[in-house]
Amino acid sequence: MKSIPEKGIPREEVLDRLKDFAGEDVNYRDNKIFSLVYYLGEEHTDFLKQAYGMYFSENALNPMAFRSLKRFEHEVVRMSASLLNGDDQVAGVMTSGGTESCLLPVLAYREMARASRVIPLRRPEMIAPETIHVAWEKAAKYFGVKMVHVPIDSDCRVDVDSVRKKINRNTIMIVASAPSYPHGVIDPITHLGEIALSRGIPFHVDSCLGGFLLPFVERLGYEVPPFDFRVPGVTSISADVHKYAFSAKGASTLLYRNIDYLKHQFFICTDWPGGIFASPALLGTRPGGAIAAAWAALNTIGMDGYLDIARTIMDTTDKFKAGIEAIDGLKILGEPAMGVFAYTSEDRDVNIFAVGDQLEEKGWLVDRLQRPDALHCMITPRHAAIADQYLADLQSGVEAVRRNPELATSGNAAMYGMIAHVPFRALVKKEVAKMMNELYGSQCIMPPLSTGSDQESGPRAVKLLSAGLNALNRLRK
Ligand SMILES: Cc1ncc(COP(=O)(O)O)c(C=O)c1O
Repeated sequence: MKSIPEKGIPREEVLDRLKDFAGEDVNYRDNKIFSLVYYLGEEHTDFLKQAYGMYFSENALNPMAFRSLKRFEHEVVRMSASLLNGDDQVAGVMTSGGTESCLLPVLAYREMARASRVIPLRRPEMIAPETIHVAWEKAAKYFGVKMVHVPIDSDCRVDVDSVRKKINRNTIMIVASAPSYPHGVIDPITHLGEIALSRGIPFHVDSCLGGFLLPFVERLGYEVPPFDFRVPGVTSISADVHKYAFSAKGASTLLYRNIDYLKHQFFICTDWPGGIFASPALLGTRPGGAIAAAWAALNTIGMDGYLDIARTIMDTTDKFKAGIEAIDGLKILGEPAMGVFAYTSEDRDVNIFAVGDQLEEKGWLVDRLQRPDALHCMITPRHAAIADQYLADLQSGVEAVRRNPELATSGNAAMYGMIAHVPFRALVKKEVAKMMNELYGSQCIMPPLSTGSDQESGPRAVKLLSAGLNALNRLRK
């Protein structure tokens, strides 16, 4: 459709069309995907829709107009702070998601550093493990802060000594993960906290994934090193309600140890002809539905419900991990703390991306990692029902690749392998930029989902990327 229809289409018909288009999407309800959707089943989803719908039109832009939303936000912040062992001084906001909760601390700590420096801060820097979520790269870029990466050890945790060595007078913050997105491991938060405290540097823990799961994993008796406000040097934590708290999309919490940190992210403008404006976070209009649904999810699931969820997730994760490690040649990376982990192949004859293709042929949506090449899993309670099937498909996928090593040079395996290993990263970036132009330019066409090694059916943009990289590869030869 290139323009708004001259004459409105009846609602029923529009709804039918919406339904039809959903048929082109990946089917998350059959639990064959491992990210993007945190789904507890239709009953819980219907409940969230009801809560969201009740506050569908309300806007948290003005907390005086919608006091209900301010109450929900306050209570979600307090519930999260108490779960993460914060005291009454902890102050925070709800944001639209993990990315906003990663953007804002960079802004706040940059502003704080500027405000406290006698000599002006020339080039602010932040220190982060190379495994930190990419949202922090975005934050560094948006707010003009230099990202200083620190390598990880063989156990996939950030190297503490390297962090110490990277600190200088431009350092505005340190950030680490609990746990990291790629490998699901918790960085050495206690040690980093000691360094941060002794050097007077703010320290953020990105617990967007773990904030609503690790506290329950710990209660179940698994070993979870302290990662929250119990660690004295931790000055802020992000925890997403729309991930392992199973709320509707558009909800995260950003908590600071006290208001003296939080206040640096506030935006206040008193001279705007539109009136005096004050905003606590990135967005202007803030959807009431997402805030109400977050409050509703925490209340209805409750501590006992989250403990049950964590138990199912951990039992299922243990099953997955044991099953994967039992397959000859496969290895889990690091020591994952919860239901997020990655595995790679140590067998030269088994290309892990080709194994990914085999899984896709069986209908799984596979997330691929690079450096090292690996496949990724994020377990939710719904995966309990499909663990055996996944492991059986994985076993037969590995066998197929071992029998036919040439599978590594065709299909998506070849493309992802090439993308991950092309040494000229600037050229890869250029090709990805072209792909973005294709996807978001005026001519965007979205063909059906691609699966398996059938590149012909892939989205045009992905094919473009693949073609570009193929050309690049030919040039190198
Ligand atoms: C550790 C971590 N931080 C931040 C984010 C960004 O969250 P969102 O996708 O909600 O913006 C993610 C997303 O997976 C994550 O895993």
